[in-house]
Amino acid sequence: MVAQSTAPARVKAVQVAPSILSADFSRLGAEIESVLSGGADLLHLDVMDGHFVPNITFGPPLVKSVRKSTKATLDCHLMIEKPTRYVGAFVDAGADWVSVHCEAPDDVGAAIREVKARGKRAGIVLNPDTPLERARPHFGAVDYVLVMSVFPGFGGQAFIPGVLEKVRALAAERFPGDVEIDGGIDERTASLAVEAGANVLVAGSAVFGAKDRAAAIAAIRGRR
Ligand code: DX5
Ligand code: ZN
Repeated sequence: MVAQSTAPARVKAVQVAPSILSADFSRLGAEIESVLSGGADLLHLDVMDGHFVPNITFGPPLVKSVRKSTKATLDCHLMIEKPTRYVGAFVDAGADWVSVHCEAPDDVGAAIREVKARGKRAGIVLNPDTPLERARPHFGAVDYVLVMSVFPGFGGQAFIPGVLEKVRALAAERFPGDVEIDGGIDERTASLAVEAGANVLVAGSAVFGAKDRAAAIAAIRGRR
């Protein structure tokens, strides 16, 4: 009799990544400390250049300051037109994870290669209306896929449930890396995302908008 494999699909631990975009920047150090002592696994840093998205946030100097204040893993999400020009500066500033959008009008593959060559984790990001196929050429080169569940640019937007199809497809094809989801994540949508197969949950307003950060992070993580 041929033994059939009963090994379950690999289940990865859920990681919660508060996005500092929704933090109070006038007291950023204390805000960061509150989410790290509250159980955050990563810090998500949203970099916007005013071209790729209609908003401007911060660049390498802020990443460098955050790096000085904590040993936590820094997950930099680059919403910029020219990642090849800047990924090195973000790595130099202390980024541990660096993700670039597959829609960027640049040599996205080269940007990913540079992140990897510098010994950091690289991710490929898809906007809500971008099909998985567009990012697929990069799957062999990255450590994670970031599925946007809002159109990037601003915190506090409503979760777009249709993107879960892409998360399910990644799970079905057993994408070996992490599957991160970003935008409109709260206790309810986190649970939908994890059921679909996501294991890294970015949350801005649901964490920094809550008085009790530890409780908010625990609710997003769920009983997992
Ligand atoms: C959107 C950013 C997100 C955003 C998440 O462009 O990439 O990381 O800050 O914020 P919430 O959780 O409030 O949707
Ligand atoms: Zn983000």
